[in-house]
Amino acid sequence: MLMDNEFCSAFKGDIIGKEIIYLDSVTSTMDAAIEIGRGGDNFDGTVIVADVQTGGKGRFGRKWISPAGVNLYFTVLLKPDFRPENASMITITAAVAVAKAIRQYPGLKAEIKWPNDILVKGKKTAGILTEMKSVAGLIELLAVGIGVNVNMTSEMMVSDIRDIATSLKLEQHEDVNRITLFRGILSELEKYYKILLNGNKGALINEWLSLNSTIGRKVMVRNQDSVETGVAEGLSDQGALILRLESGETRTINAGDVTIL
Ligand code: BTN
Repeated sequence: MLMDNEFCSAFKGDIIGKEIIYLDSVTSTMDAAIEIGRGGDNFDGTVIVADVQTGGKGRFGRKWISPAGVNLYFTVLLKPDFRPENASMITITAAVAVAKAIRQYPGLKAEIKWPNDILVKGKKTAGILTEMKSVAGLIELLAVGIGVNVNMTSEMMVSDIRDIATSLKLEQHEDVNRITLFRGILSELEKYYKILLNGNKGALINEWLSLNSTIGRKVMVRNQDSVETGVAEGLSDQGALILRLESGETRTINAGDVTIL
């Protein structure tokens, strides 16, 4: 069911939130957003938010647990005028926006684990999934999906994530208002997305560095076909992780799962 509610009027920026579409239930806001993007050209800044997802998606084909009435699940559609190889800067931008917003409200010390995990006290409380459609070296559509465990209880988490995941309520010991947080994230996203569009990647990377818990640490990076261990040395200007291996060589890693050792 499509309805007008508090989510729809939570935020209206120059770009982000031009239109906010609320759906009670979807398979995934990613699929709903991509469908909307396919239907026309005028989607830049449209946000699709749902109360529950029946097939919430995480990175690498994982499930994103999405019970009703407790968390935030939304996807922001964008059509930036830059080349596909710069698209991972959007994940960096979104991670900064989510961490900043959580630090403002409810005021917890959120940290970013490269590339897309938002941690509170070392446990994952939010994740970002970016999907892109590009044609002939141009971005046609970017769908930036954000999921935040807001008021989820540990009983709602499947047992294999209970030790590594948390929610804002579990850390704050009181209910957190989803609308206030949604507004805060969209407002920070508008701010940092404009910085990205203005070409000020350096400022964005510095902001990311000030919020991250990865750089300087010994890490293991796992992706579909390899596992590498080394010291996370920095971020490239396209948002990739620079890893110094024990051999002294450096690797630039575009995608993967980081474990801090
Ligand atoms: C991850 O950390 O693996 C990414 C999780 C992204 C979850 C969000 S919830 C809103 C949007 N819809 C989805 O199905 N996934 C993203």
